[in-house]
Amino acid sequence: NEGKLWGGRFAGGPAPELEALSRSTHFDWRLTPYDLAGSKAHARALHTAGLLTDADHDELQRGLDALGERFAAGTLHPDPSDEDVHGALERLLLDEVGTEIGGKLRAGRSRNDQIATLFKVFLREHAAVIAGHVLDLVDALAAQAETHHGAIMPGRTHLQHAQPVLLSHHLMAHAWALLRDVDRLGDWDARVAAESPYGAGALAGSSLGLDPEQVAADLGFTGSVANSIDGTASRDFVAEFAFVTAMIGVDVSRIAEEVILWATKEFGFVALDDAFSTGSSIMPQKKNPDISELARGKSGRLIGNLSGLLATLKALPLAYNRDLQEDKEPVFDSVDTLEVLLPAFAGQVATLRFDTDRMAELAPQGFSLATDIAEWLVREGVPFRVAHEVAGACVRRCEELGIELHELTDEQFAAIDENLKPAVRAVLTVEGSVSSRTGRGGTAPVRVAEQLTELRARASAA
Ligand code: ARG
Repeated sequence: NEGKLWGGRFAGGPAPELEALSRSTHFDWRLTPYDLAGSKAHARALHTAGLLTDADHDELQRGLDALGERFAAGTLHPDPSDEDVHGALERLLLDEVGTEIGGKLRAGRSRNDQIATLFKVFLREHAAVIAGHVLDLVDALAAQAETHHGAIMPGRTHLQHAQPVLLSHHLMAHAWALLRDVDRLGDWDARVAAESPYGAGALAGSSLGLDPEQVAADLGFTGSVANSIDGTASRDFVAEFAFVTAMIGVDVSRIAEEVILWATKEFGFVALDDAFSTGSSIMPQKKNPDISELARGKSGRLIGNLSGLLATLKALPLAYNRDLQEDKEPVFDSVDTLEVLLPAFAGQVATLRFDTDRMAELAPQGFSLATDIAEWLVREGVPFRVAHEVAGACVRRCEELGIELHELTDEQFAAIDENLKPAVRAVLTVEGSVSSRTGRGGTAPVRVAEQLTELRARASAA
């Protein structure tokens, strides 16, 4: 058991089948810089507690830095015999500084508190990167909203024409959802930052007088865990991270689905930029929305990572169980997925070319101004229940005649209901309709301009 972290009580070495199953270096090696940072902080805690001489401490710090440099240069590698990143780095440290000094570092810590801590540090860094990418997408949406301020589109519910809205209003609806995801990452980060597990040991804490708060501060945490069992056994921070990444995927997939629809001949609302669309190997005319399709597909993968993780955690008894090693790959995958997806998606959104004439032409169709007739009647003193009936009768009459609402004559209006005076025509334009929705959060151009300012302020504060 030469080179293993736990050889002492075993008469022989592990079976190769066990080694093959147990090995995690092929995915946890990327945690090397975080493991080394944890080890450096731990060495300082040992030194502060009087368990390392100045010379030994200096030599450990030098050795750990040397490993960090080799990792950065791409020349540090695990051996097939290494079980995980922690074991590999200890072996390499012993090679670097000798077994005498290197063998002192492991005092008062366990891979259980190590992995819980450094996984948090890793995820905190990537949460910040992902938040930045999401904000870039918010920016792309806001820029399109600004460019197209005033353009009107058919607003839909149930995918049916509902009421006309401003295109910028619609685009910003996606942006607000994404901003909440950025907020979620921030809330998550504050919760995770408060609880560094280093010092929890295997599960029971340390007897060596080490200061977990010192290690926590060194690693950028605001505090250390109150309960060593909780610190080593809980992974709700991983599940919550996986949820937020899945939510981002879902929010992006909703934009993606619309881009896919809008880019069809039937909708004709957007054209994709050449740099952000793909062709077909057989059909020369094709221009495909692959980025949006991949976004839609990858959102399923992000949800899968969350569900798999929750299934791993369900009913796990306290404290650490090896099952917990299964927490990493799904979340690494979620991180990698979003870090390549989001920049491509933001590029696609930033370069969309909207056919606002086409949108404006379709906006009044499908009787999307019927609600405006009903609300005009309400302003004339008609109870809404009656107004709804009357506006519905207008739609029925138009369907019989094969025309749109604004094409009804004054006489036809009056024949439907005596309250339908010619003045009703004022609301039978899409411009009149959107301009009338002046309540906070509404689609009136003045409100939407304010909304854009509010969105930008929130995004730059995030
Ligand atoms: N590599 C493990 C993990 O990712 C940490 C090692 C803990 N192993 C152990 N036998 N206690 O969770």
